[in-house]
Amino acid sequence: MEVVITSGAEESARLAADAIEQLLGRKPDAVLGLATGSTPLPTYDELVRRQEAGRISFSRARGFTLDEYIGLPADHPQRYRNVIDRELVGRVDFAPDAVTGPDGLAEDLQAAAAAYERAIAEAGGVDLQILGIGTNGHIAFNEPGSSLASRTRVQPLAPQTRSDNARFFDGDVEAVPRLCFTQGLGTIMEARHLVLIATGEGKAKAVQQLVEGAVSASWPATIMQHHPHATVLLDGAAASLL
Ligand code: GLP
Repeated sequence: MEVVITSGAEESARLAADAIEQLLGRKPDAVLGLATGSTPLPTYDELVRRQEAGRISFSRARGFTLDEYIGLPADHPQRYRNVIDRELVGRVDFAPDAVTGPDGLAEDLQAAAAAYERAIAEAGGVDLQILGIGTNGHIAFNEPGSSLASRTRVQPLAPQTRSDNARFFDGDVEAVPRLCFTQGLGTIMEARHLVLIATGEGKAKAVQQLVEGAVSASWPATIMQHHPHATVLLDGAAASLL
């Protein structure tokens, strides 16, 4: 794992965008793994600037999101499909339908999870996966206790995650869904390059485990230690316990 301590969120965003720019430069039809949450937003802003400057194009690229709340109405602003459209996809030149996510309104949830796995495989797998990390060490929504070999599935959200994410639901923890779809740790580990970004002191404990802890389902992100090409971009506060 390559661990880079940056001067802050802006430099982390530039480095993550550099990796995507280089990938699209050599493989314009690359498959990108896109994350939601607040951490990747500066990276997405940087990608929009680079596309506007003519440095990159997403016109032949494809994308898969990491996870999705189950049961939020189609037009809910916090549905991850809508979040990623608002924050990145609708601001750059992705082709229509080039980016997909698990269907949080599917009638048959197990079938939807299996269909999502198949769609990723049929696209040839993910070339570069952007990741954030939860304060409890989750990646995507793989909560502590997730199998290190898990695949896309339905997962109950940990109380810590619901409380962390209440800020996106006007502070109302009861409004945060209880169930989600998440790509599994085994699914994420098949991406050819993982780029995890963490900013702020709130992530310091999870980052300490990620970088220095034993690989364990108690801190799901630690599985990244076994990935042959993983980059971890940290600001000083997130790196403060290393
Ligand atoms: C969320 C998402 C994750 C994200 C993480 C951290 O619940 N499911 O994909 O990486 O928690 O979010 P944030 O970047 O807002 O701190």
